[in-house]
Amino acid sequence: MKSLKTDLNGLYPPSDAVQQSAHIASLDQYLKMYKASIEDPIQFWEKLSKPFFWKQQPTGPFLRYNFDLKKGNIFTKWMEGATTNVCYNLVDKHVEEGNGHRMAYYWEGNDPTEQKQITYQGLLEAICKCANVLKTLGIQKGNRVAIYMPTTIEAIIAMLSCARIGAIHVVIFAGFSAEALAERMIAANAKLLVTADGTFRGTKFIPLKSIATQALKQCKAAGHLINHCVVFNRLQTSKLNKDVPDIPWDDSIDLAWETVMASASDLCEVEWVDAEHPLFILYTSGSTGKPKGVLHTSGGYLLYAATVFKYAFDYHEEDLFFCSGDLGWITGHTFNVYGALACKSSTVIFDGIPTYPDGGRFWELIDRYQVTTFYTAPTAIRTLMQLDRSYVTKYSRASLRLLGSVGEPIDPATWHWFYEVVGEKRCPIIDTFWQTETGGPIICPLPGSTPLKPGSATLPFFGIVPAIVDADGVEMIGEGEGYLVIKNPWPGIARTLDGNHQRFESTYFEPYNGYYYTGDAAKRDADGYFWIIGRRDDMLNVSGHLLSTAEIESALMQHPAVAEAAAVSAAHAIKGESIHCFIVLKHRWKYDGIIEDAIKAIVRNKIGAFAVPELIHPVPALPKVASGKIMRRLLKKVVQQDADLGDTSTLVDQTIIEQLLALTTKKG
Ligand code: WTA
Repeated sequence: MKSLKTDLNGLYPPSDAVQQSAHIASLDQYLKMYKASIEDPIQFWEKLSKPFFWKQQPTGPFLRYNFDLKKGNIFTKWMEGATTNVCYNLVDKHVEEGNGHRMAYYWEGNDPTEQKQITYQGLLEAICKCANVLKTLGIQKGNRVAIYMPTTIEAIIAMLSCARIGAIHVVIFAGFSAEALAERMIAANAKLLVTADGTFRGTKFIPLKSIATQALKQCKAAGHLINHCVVFNRLQTSKLNKDVPDIPWDDSIDLAWETVMASASDLCEVEWVDAEHPLFILYTSGSTGKPKGVLHTSGGYLLYAATVFKYAFDYHEEDLFFCSGDLGWITGHTFNVYGALACKSSTVIFDGIPTYPDGGRFWELIDRYQVTTFYTAPTAIRTLMQLDRSYVTKYSRASLRLLGSVGEPIDPATWHWFYEVVGEKRCPIIDTFWQTETGGPIICPLPGSTPLKPGSATLPFFGIVPAIVDADGVEMIGEGEGYLVIKNPWPGIARTLDGNHQRFESTYFEPYNGYYYTGDAAKRDADGYFWIIGRRDDMLNVSGHLLSTAEIESALMQHPAVAEAAAVSAAHAIKGESIHCFIVLKHRWKYDGIIEDAIKAIVRNKIGAFAVPELIHPVPALPKVASGKIMRRLLKKVVQQDADLGDTSTLVDQTIIEQLLALTTKKG
């Protein structure tokens, strides 16, 4: 990465227009700053932390950490002894500095007529009210609050009111089922639930409150009592709300958001917390067993979110940022909330889908609001590129300055469509590689400095030292393909998995002791550019959301006819990957459409509609090794109809794959 090959063939260097105003305006400048960031991370991050408000400066070392299990527990601590409040830095500080009138959010609902906006001053008042509501309901510093809401200003108010009083928010994506919601609320020991009556995805009604009510019942049955549920009336602005079913209501638990907010005071002192005080927990799938409660803390996460927002999007005050990500995922947390507000951004948030009322929705929105920075996922781009180009070209994209992508590798064809059709070859594509656990992008181009290569997430962000290791953990120097690890701590790294530090250590640090293991395979080319290949473990990435095979399989096993089940992914034109399931039926059961529908319904209920398998293959047996472990690698080959099986010596029944290949061909 010291210097790029002089031949810029196939590279897209930053344009003069982008470079002119960029914070980092040349590759040299990036390289210098990057070098400084890894040679003296403390000095680097200390300087960037200065503009934030610290009630108390750090009393000990700016960074303390251990990535080596042989030396003891894994930990990372930034700015120990410092105290701050993240909500104060995101909102109060801007208001106190005279920016209260500045627009914080433009909200657009599923219907194009649903619009709301809120200034920094308005946000501050609403957060104070909501924080007072939380306090009245008994929420104190350190308590966990579950938020099961669509992407709305109110969800952000709920999140930040937690941060204001030192409570920990646990946002659960509003596409999860009652069971998945209950499981997460129990795991997080949530004391309160904030939800909405419902929302629409296109014309489809999502009965959030009914689901929440069921989940609360399941919590109660499991001995976990949640006394209050605050319900925001999301449907009031919807034109489609005429025929929605009755919203279940229990006066002994349920409280209307509008009522409790109306009577609350709009003044609320902030709670000063330690830099390492937990800010939020966000669940992500694990390759085995229960979802992982990724825990982020206050000071370091704030610093990292703000820094990536500023540099990866080359943010300037006159920008209007639009990230289509849902608040229920890390992208929504870091970019729609923490990074954006820390940088005093004006941001568009959207509670709808890109194809409703038609495939021009994003582009119409971009034109109407004059968005400068648009950040989305390859799966959304792939959906839209199937449609007639006129959906895009009908609207002006002249306001756009840059485009971003996250969630999965963006294949070159999709990259080119995004670059050429949407961005009219004017806007760099910022392909950001990151994870729930990393808090923010760790490999990504910077708009004014990084020559782009379609399909590559390019170079490490400041302070990140990536390495590629082989299966034995030996670091590869220069070009190579292997597993992506990070050698050093950065402020945004997750500190633990809630309630299970041992799992945190074994998942991320044990595989390659001394390094943070991403779980992704990656390639580094001769220029030092990184190309993410994909997950290495038993994980699927469907429409940019991670799902574990174990989670899907345990849902499949709930059907009384299913004796054994295995889930694998296959390439899918739109979703990136889609789920294929293999099931072995119990004796005397015969596979038919009724069983198929029932199995799909179980997956929908247990996890959510996004996890429903694309295809279910009933098979006589699964390929296994002697210990009984299913060889999913071979099932993938079956799905791909690839008879080049590699090493099958550990397979117990050597004939099974032939049988499966024959069966699935017939089906296809
Ligand atoms: C994948 C999402 C390639 C990767 C922010 C990672 C990507 C997982 C990219 C984390 C990218 C994310 N290129 N792959 N730009 N961004 N991934 O936790 O496999 O929902 O490990 O965080 O998504 O997904 P998560």
